[in-house]
Amino acid sequence: MSSTDVLKVSILGKESIHCGFHLIPYIARTVLNTLPSSTYVLVTDTNVANFHLASFESEFKAAILSSTTDPKPRFLSYVIPPGETSKSREGKADIEDFLLLNRCTRDTVLLALGGGVIGDLAGFVAATFMRGIRFCQVPTTLLAMVDSSVGGKTAIDTPHGKNLIGAFWQPEYIFIDAAFLETLPVREFSNGMAEVVKTAAIWSAADFALLESRASEIFSAIQSPSPCPTGRSLSTRTSSQTLLLSIIYGSISVKAHIVTIDERETGLRNLVNFGHSIGHAIEAVLTPSILHGECVSVGMILEAEVARSLGVFGQVGVGRLTRCLKAYNLPVSLEDPRIKCVPAAKLLGVEKLLDIMRIDKKNSGTAKKIVILASIGATYEQKATVVADSVIAKVLSEAAKVTSGIPSKNPVHMATPGSKSISNRALVLAALGTGTCRLKNLLHSDDTQVMMNALLELKGASFAWEDGGETLVVEGGKGSLSAPHKGKEIYLGNAGTAARFLTTVCTLVQCAESSSTVITGNARMKQRPIGPLVDALRSNGSHIEYLDSQGCLPLSIAPQGLKGGRIQLAASVSSQYVSSILLCAPYASETVTLELTGGQVISQPYIDMTIAMMRTFGINVARQIDSATGKPLDVYRIPKGTYTNPAEYNIESDASSATYPLAIAAITGTSCTIANIGSTSLQGDARFAKEVLEPMGCDVIQTETETTVRGPPVGQLKSIGLIDMEPMTDAFLTASVLAAVAVGAPLQGRKLKDAECHNVTRILGISNQRVKECNRIKAMIDELAKFGVETKELPDGLEIYGKPIKDLRQGASVHCYDDHRVAMAFSVLGTVISDTIIEEKRCVEKTWPNWWDDLENKIGLKVEGVELTNEGPLASASGAGTQDTTASVVLIGMRGSGKSFIGKLAASALNWSFIDADHYFEEKLQIGVREFVRQHGWSAFRVAESEILEELLVANPTKHVISLGGGIVETASARDLLKKWTKKGYVVHIAREIDEVVKYLGEETARPAYGEPIIDVFRRREPWFLECCNFEFVNYTGDSNGAVDQYVPESKTRTKNEVTRFFQHITGQKPNLAPNLAPEIRSYFLSLTYPDITPALPHIEELTVGVDAVELRVDLLRSPKDLASFGPYIPPASYVTNQLAALRHVTTLPIVYTVRTVSQGGAFPDHAEQEAFDLLNVALRMGVEYIDVEISWPEKRIRDLSSRKGASQVVASWHDWSGKMKWNGAQVKEKYNVANRLGDIIKIIGKAESLADNFALFEFVSRASSTHQAKPIIAINMGGEGQMTRILNTTFTPVSHPLLPTKSAPGQLSFVEIQTALNLLGQLPTRRFFLFGNAISQSPSPTLHNTAFEALGLPYVYDLLQIPEVGEEIRATIVSPTFGGASVTIPFKIDVLPLLDKLSPAAEAIGAVNTIIPQVTDASGSQRILYGDNTDWLGIRECIRSRMPSHASVTAALVIGAGGTARAALYALHALGAQHIYIFNRTRSKAQELANAFPDICVSLVDELGKWPNAGPSPNVIVSTLPPAATTTDSNDTHNAIYLPATLFDPDHEGVVLDAAYKPAETPLLTLATKVGKSWTRAQGVDLLLEQGYNQFELWTGRKCPRGIVAKRVREFYAA
Ligand SMILES: NC(=O)c1ccc[n+]([C@@H]2O[C@H](COP(=O)([O-])OP(=O)(O)OC[C@H]3O[C@@H](n4cnc5c(N)ncnc54)[C@H](O)[C@@H]3O)[C@@H](O)[C@H]2O)c1
Repeated sequence: MSSTDVLKVSILGKESIHCGFHLIPYIARTVLNTLPSSTYVLVTDTNVANFHLASFESEFKAAILSSTTDPKPRFLSYVIPPGETSKSREGKADIEDFLLLNRCTRDTVLLALGGGVIGDLAGFVAATFMRGIRFCQVPTTLLAMVDSSVGGKTAIDTPHGKNLIGAFWQPEYIFIDAAFLETLPVREFSNGMAEVVKTAAIWSAADFALLESRASEIFSAIQSPSPCPTGRSLSTRTSSQTLLLSIIYGSISVKAHIVTIDERETGLRNLVNFGHSIGHAIEAVLTPSILHGECVSVGMILEAEVARSLGVFGQVGVGRLTRCLKAYNLPVSLEDPRIKCVPAAKLLGVEKLLDIMRIDKKNSGTAKKIVILASIGATYEQKATVVADSVIAKVLSEAAKVTSGIPSKNPVHMATPGSKSISNRALVLAALGTGTCRLKNLLHSDDTQVMMNALLELKGASFAWEDGGETLVVEGGKGSLSAPHKGKEIYLGNAGTAARFLTTVCTLVQCAESSSTVITGNARMKQRPIGPLVDALRSNGSHIEYLDSQGCLPLSIAPQGLKGGRIQLAASVSSQYVSSILLCAPYASETVTLELTGGQVISQPYIDMTIAMMRTFGINVARQIDSATGKPLDVYRIPKGTYTNPAEYNIESDASSATYPLAIAAITGTSCTIANIGSTSLQGDARFAKEVLEPMGCDVIQTETETTVRGPPVGQLKSIGLIDMEPMTDAFLTASVLAAVAVGAPLQGRKLKDAECHNVTRILGISNQRVKECNRIKAMIDELAKFGVETKELPDGLEIYGKPIKDLRQGASVHCYDDHRVAMAFSVLGTVISDTIIEEKRCVEKTWPNWWDDLENKIGLKVEGVELTNEGPLASASGAGTQDTTASVVLIGMRGSGKSFIGKLAASALNWSFIDADHYFEEKLQIGVREFVRQHGWSAFRVAESEILEELLVANPTKHVISLGGGIVETASARDLLKKWTKKGYVVHIAREIDEVVKYLGEETARPAYGEPIIDVFRRREPWFLECCNFEFVNYTGDSNGAVDQYVPESKTRTKNEVTRFFQHITGQKPNLAPNLAPEIRSYFLSLTYPDITPALPHIEELTVGVDAVELRVDLLRSPKDLASFGPYIPPASYVTNQLAALRHVTTLPIVYTVRTVSQGGAFPDHAEQEAFDLLNVALRMGVEYIDVEISWPEKRIRDLSSRKGASQVVASWHDWSGKMKWNGAQVKEKYNVANRLGDIIKIIGKAESLADNFALFEFVSRASSTHQAKPIIAINMGGEGQMTRILNTTFTPVSHPLLPTKSAPGQLSFVEIQTALNLLGQLPTRRFFLFGNAISQSPSPTLHNTAFEALGLPYVYDLLQIPEVGEEIRATIVSPTFGGASVTIPFKIDVLPLLDKLSPAAEAIGAVNTIIPQVTDASGSQRILYGDNTDWLGIRECIRSRMPSHASVTAALVIGAGGTARAALYALHALGAQHIYIFNRTRSKAQELANAFPDICVSLVDELGKWPNAGPSPNVIVSTLPPAATTTDSNDTHNAIYLPATLFDPDHEGVVLDAAYKPAETPLLTLATKVGKSWTRAQGVDLLLEQGYNQFELWTGRKCPRGIVAKRVREFYAA
């Protein structure tokens, strides 16, 4: 055997930590030789056992065999399920039972082989078994290696919390075998890296520097398995192995040192909790979806920000920590998509986190303690520091409030962060130069970090940090560069400047370990252009190859030096190409003459900046002059040479950033000096002080390198008048907020000739600001308006009308559009306007991450954290992806697909506004679309159309439904906009059968014709529609033979229902999830097991009786043309879409969408992973509510799907058909853990071989459900033996129906069968329901409810209780334990009120009750209250709503009568949004009484029917509540009855008339309607009775009433 080299670390005075590679033989030897025992027991989990148990067993057994000890010791192993749930009392008992059963004694040695779970659990067993036995830690995760195995902390979890029971118990050895990491999932590796980074951050700057610069090498050490015994001995160890071991060793050494000093965690040991105070609070909410290390990673950044906010730790450090954690693929903010997509992330409010942090063992009393960093590698104190809640809250809050006042640090002296452009140039110059250069004020950003890493990899320079990272010392490499070794690519992320500069730098490489240098970047970088630069270099002789797509990275650049001479470059795209060649040109073989071609050179100031900086580094570039005109040409001559590094180079502060502190001085009448920006500045925005602030009345002193501004007394700023800000466009936002409070007369010469007042500032030359992070001009206009400041938009700027400070509105909440400049500009205004809130405070991170801290610590203005109240609608438990629930919906699709129709319906369902882009186009351009195309042609139209799209999205980002023209997807830029919109909002493709579209378009001519066959246009656009949308709505018009429409007469209502459901669901406004999915309630779904479900649709109501959802078994679908085929089958997506749409058309029940594989009991091929996910994506796109995903698919894919699920939920499922999975075994726990991680609902299906298997299932479910935040679980045993689990399962029990062709699983029962069984088992007690009233013998209510009870198999009976008055009889009935509920008729609707405990808001408002519901108020079910509701109004509302035409709303409504039903009618009409409500009653005073009872509803009394008060509109809804006999249409009969004139019904309306009278069916009102109101729809009393009855039924049973079945019987009863 090769020798084993281990590194040893001492802990608590003993060298017990041994680190190396491939240590199994070493471990066996060491343990057997030094820890003699009769029994060695190895405890591990199934995951680790799969990889490593066999080697341990064979190694130990062989060593034992060859040993001379007598008797020979035993080696036993015990494998448990992986995951945190094993770390429990039961888990501990299982191991103890194993030890006891195997007669283990006190000399037993335990070996804990696994991650922290195994280490903690086995360690705790060791601590208490026989009062303590010896044990060894063999950690196999990085987290366990560097953290949990070191220090002797052992513990288990309880439902009350993690690690609550445990002991300190030190292991004999800790064997760190880094080769185990090769089998560890990468996410788990990163999880451990969080602890490694943490330890370096608190303890060792050198270790940290190693971690931040060598992430990719560290990853490469574990990426592929090292053949054993590579690395065991020093001679075989690779360099990346050595590096990995050294970082693990370093980390462990620190922890061991700290533990040795403070074993019991009394002070110093608290330091290892850096990141954990906030991290644990986050973890408490996000576990198990987000791992410990991931939460700690975010916690570290937030705690570092706390340190920064206290003024103890600098932004440089925060930036380094952030980048380092990112390099290990760890999340660094709560905004990380991996976190945002976790449903529980919604709960991460400031209060919640602070509340959890309250229980932290580090705290002293109520004061919270956090480990505060002082610099990278050192903490502020040798223990955790007390931090005020307000400071933590400030860091955690999403919004900030600047306290208005005078800066306490006046006169302020500060620098702003370094300029990005100058930082990048300085890095290249100093690296190529000769000598040492100290770069000061370098910008710390991802871009500069990438640039430094690349220069290091090219061995072009060396870097070192001084002053805690404030100064970068560059040792120049004089232009000598070498290509990295073969296979090593230089990765530039998305750093554009670095990519451009480095492309030419790489041509300078001359010596090379490999034949070329490869530079690459992330996906976005791989799309950004580099072509013109590569063309120029290639024509100059450089060999550069595109490795992927033409014109973009990655590039392979041959190491042959730069030739030089004359180089031609097209410079109209980017000035960075020019700078790239300029910077490298001195190192070419021949003197370079650079000639810029292609017309207009873009961004000349940046070229000038490069040339000026080259001059500072000793190279003078000469720009050629046209001898004829004396004008400069775009030709530059760059002499050959080497840069001479200045000893120190001060990077200019970012001049745009400097405008904010300077503006604060101006507005608060104080003084501010900004270092590093002066008259010689290279940046345009440096002119702001002289050209904006000075004319506004400030004193400005600008030296070459410094700018000082002193503002006039508060309130005395002069308006600017006219200013062209073209040279400093980014500074216009700062100028605008100052102009808002500038009322003094502008300077002479700046005055606006056309302005009447002094207070006008007109800013021009800034039209480019419309296409920055947001439309900044519009943003300033909208946000200034919140302060009451008026403005006017101009074609290339805006006008601002200043107001005295005291007249500006206080307490404005500024939306920042995720734009750093908007946030910083408005914080300037916040210094003089009280209570200004800046929402999205983190958007400043782009250029000035510590702006809020600098405002407080350097300028002296207090900043508070503000938590914005989330006014969003209730979201589902599953959350709504990363989309904002109020983000606007954009509709795309073929012309004629129904975008406008559906868009209007959607807008009304969401209560949002509707915009038709065509109309908008016409209004804006004052020309019709058709005419525009005729005059300007299609391509001009397309350009205009995409501009309008952009404008619409910027102007209406929320609460709009925007319908676009069909051809919008023809333009690439519009497609990009749409794709971008899917990231934050909703792009819905409205799909309609193409034949239908053709039919429809045949009749329509308003818009331009295609000029080509529609079908061709459709084929071209279809892929684009799919590419640009995140949802698809099928405008279903029935299948081709019209089968659906035949039995769906109310097809329009169905479309309306479906539009409402779809849009409310996808936006999360009202997710269509099953309400019965709550704990303690039973829920069911019906499995549709047809190859083609359309024949079942006419029976859907009967089939779905009682259930909460319908399962579409996608794997069982078979397109008619494939019906004859056998075996596993993949249904085509188009077929599935059609089936889904057909199902949607007939039911609004949520759908469970299942693609069951063969091995899990379905028909879908087991290995068709891609196809399965394609189909699952169809479900997401179509807004399916529940998506069943088998956990046997790769976790990454499931997570990806989940991240896009929006308001829908994932059912993570596992089916065991073999019967091998036992509910008390290891496998089920393992599957449960995986499903718990991945799903919103867990589904585990086993197979019962005996009754006992069912009890084991119940035991498992009850244990799993008792844990913290348990998710709903579907747990069922298949087979006849398992049938009882189908009866007793509570969540989403799959049911069959006798009418279905096959059951989807053996043993499946119907809903009705289950109710019967539940009744027999005492789980669904028999109940009695009543109708309270007198003269009720003819009531149809018993027929209604008893029919429904029977259809659902509920053991309930509904009877009449005829009584003369509300008295003893009713009282005795309602207290009976079997009382299930009652209906109440006139005249008792008011008399019963005193008997009830609580009323619904509707019953309260109407003042009457027609439904009594007993409600249980305690867990045991013994306490009940009586609740009164009123479903009459619901019935009236539904009668009207379902009959209103789709496009219409209730404009005006008339109620005839003023009794109890009229009250319900009034309430219903108000709920329907009626704008005018009229009441007519013969006795006017009673009508007035009714009107008075609803003071919040605007009601007008009508004196004569047909004459509408105040010349109001005629009603389009009429509800009569009078007895029919009291009305007449005979104008001669007016003495006995109310005369109904023909003018009641406006023939222009498509109205609805409801007569609430139950009998006769034909009332005078309805007869009149038939006669004169041709387009009016009628509703009879029986319709109302049914509707209110359905609602009553639902209130009593929690289940939908089977409407069709009930209606049929009731109508038969009525007719009889
Ligand atoms: N005692 C302490 O001081 C301390 C400190 C930190 C964390 N902890 C505890 O540690 C636990 C978390 O530990 P963890 O992150 O190691 O989790 P873990 O033990 O659950 O392991 C993570 C996953 O990786 C698998 N795995 C482990 N090693 C593997 C390998 N080499 N190859 C393939 N798969 C492998 C495991 O089966 C498991 O699925 C928590 O319970 C936490 O409370 C304790």
